[in-house]
Amino acid sequence: MGVKWWYDSRMRLDKALSDSGYGTRTDVKALVRAGRVRVDGAVVRDPSLRLPDGGTARIEVDGAPAQVQRHLHLMMHKPAGYLTALEDARRHTVAELVPAHLATRGLSPVGRLDADTTGLLLLTNDGLLAHRLANPKWHVDKVYHVWTEGAPFAPDDAARFGEGLVLGDGTECQPAELAPIGPNEALLTIREGKYHQVKRMMLATGRAVVRLHREAMGPLSLDPALAPGASRLLDEEEADRLYRAASLEDLRSD
Ligand code: URA
Repeated sequence: MGVKWWYDSRMRLDKALSDSGYGTRTDVKALVRAGRVRVDGAVVRDPSLRLPDGGTARIEVDGAPAQVQRHLHLMMHKPAGYLTALEDARRHTVAELVPAHLATRGLSPVGRLDADTTGLLLLTNDGLLAHRLANPKWHVDKVYHVWTEGAPFAPDDAARFGEGLVLGDGTECQPAELAPIGPNEALLTIREGKYHQVKRMMLATGRAVVRLHREAMGPLSLDPALAPGASRLLDEEEADRLYRAASLEDLRSD
């Protein structure tokens, strides 16, 4: 499966072109009004045209296919001590760890890890993909390695997590898979992302989390070659798998 050049769903034509290096907004408006831009074969003279959902329209400038800005997806090994945010007045944020050459590409975190949580954090500039991956409706697995103190894991714990835990404040969780790997260590798979969810699930069963590390999200596991703080762009095959996990495979085609 090949990669096309994408714009954000429903993005304005003039924004897509100017983000992609065809000039300032004023320049590209003039370009469009002069009849030099075609969308799916038809000349368009309205710079505010909303491009169709899905990022698949064929855009041409002076008869040549436009190289519209591509969606990018970054896998980061989030270290402890960084907020999952793009800016903060006082604390370090994961934005500081985005490689400098990608800093202007509009990458935002998919969901949120607590400052003290480590592991796989995805950042993307495809808002629809980010929304789907974080939304429980699309059932994207998140796998956490969790270290606890308090009650050791017991044989009936997997069933309790599997039935759907009720948190201390009455919040109901969807069924989750608990796989103990020691008395105070387990892999936990959840499909939602409630505030402090893993920590609150453990508290509801008499344990405190002492360390939390995300191993995987949907079809992607943290690349063991990434040291804490390091990141890399997803390759095409990984991005394809991610779009498939979010039921957005129609947006990827040859
Ligand atoms: N659950 C938590 O409690 N914290 C995280 O960072 C992620 C999931």
